[in-house]
Amino acid sequence: MKHLIDIKDLSVEEIDELIKVAKDIMSNPEKYQEKCKYKKLATLFFEPSTRTRLSFEAAMMELGGNVIGFSSSNASSTAKGESVSDTIRTVGCYSDIIAMRHPKEGAPLVASEKSTVPIINAGDGGHNHPTQTLTDLLTIYSEKNRLDNLTIGLCGDLKFGRTVHSLITAMSRYKNIKFVLISPDELKIPDYVKEEILEKNNIEYIETNDIEEHMSKLDILYMTRVQRERFFNEEDYLRLKDYYILNNAKLKNAKKDLCIMHPLPRVNEISVEVDDDERACYFRQVLYGKFIRMALILKLLNIK
Ligand code: CP
Repeated sequence: MKHLIDIKDLSVEEIDELIKVAKDIMSNPEKYQEKCKYKKLATLFFEPSTRTRLSFEAAMMELGGNVIGFSSSNASSTAKGESVSDTIRTVGCYSDIIAMRHPKEGAPLVASEKSTVPIINAGDGGHNHPTQTLTDLLTIYSEKNRLDNLTIGLCGDLKFGRTVHSLITAMSRYKNIKFVLISPDELKIPDYVKEEILEKNNIEYIETNDIEEHMSKLDILYMTRVQRERFFNEEDYLRLKDYYILNNAKLKNAKKDLCIMHPLPRVNEISVEVDDDERACYFRQVLYGKFIRMALILKLLNIK
């Protein structure tokens, strides 16, 4: 049995295969509509979500399977003090695969150690979000036709942004990837990401707090939200929340084929005027998320 807790659980070859299957699903959805007949996915969301939970549920339904679950810890026996381990052992009796989001870093890993069915980490605290990364990889591949030779700008909350940490980990395995890390000083990328991923793999990167400084070099601009729920101090959040607001003026020197991504939800960090720009990929990115999750469910359930 295989779980997906960290994007590193998948080899580059496995990611390439998932992308290939996702592309095939996009082209031939009818081939897949009964692949998960009689299978059940449980979505256990101890933290709010729109895209991840609903895309997992839509993915399973489009594969012909069924979905059970809860969308907040208050709607489960967690509110009565039940542990994650006991919840997982219970839900494994009712389902074939579990997608789980939890505010505590490492909770899905703990769950996987007790689970009788595959566990998918659907986001754990400020740590990892591997299925967002698979979504991002399918988006980049679909929009740029490659996963190598790219200069990627990551902008916003690079400290708490779990999607950023997972994406850097994944992209660092491809050739000639450069990163421009754009954040206020307080929200810089954690040292462990710099030391254990970027420096260890000799990946070129620049840190800056100016979004326009390197705009003309970027192939991808990945915007992120300043995450109110990770701050201990509301004053710090209010001071930093609108530090970057991407608008048409800031894109004036950007490449014609720049791909602007955002894992969403957006608050203020991308002005709505950018939505009409063909380079805004973030709503296409949402749709790619459903297809890659379909491919992942098939893989973890070992369905060809
Ligand atoms: N990108 C993402 O994880 O969105 P949700 O929080 O809505 O699931």
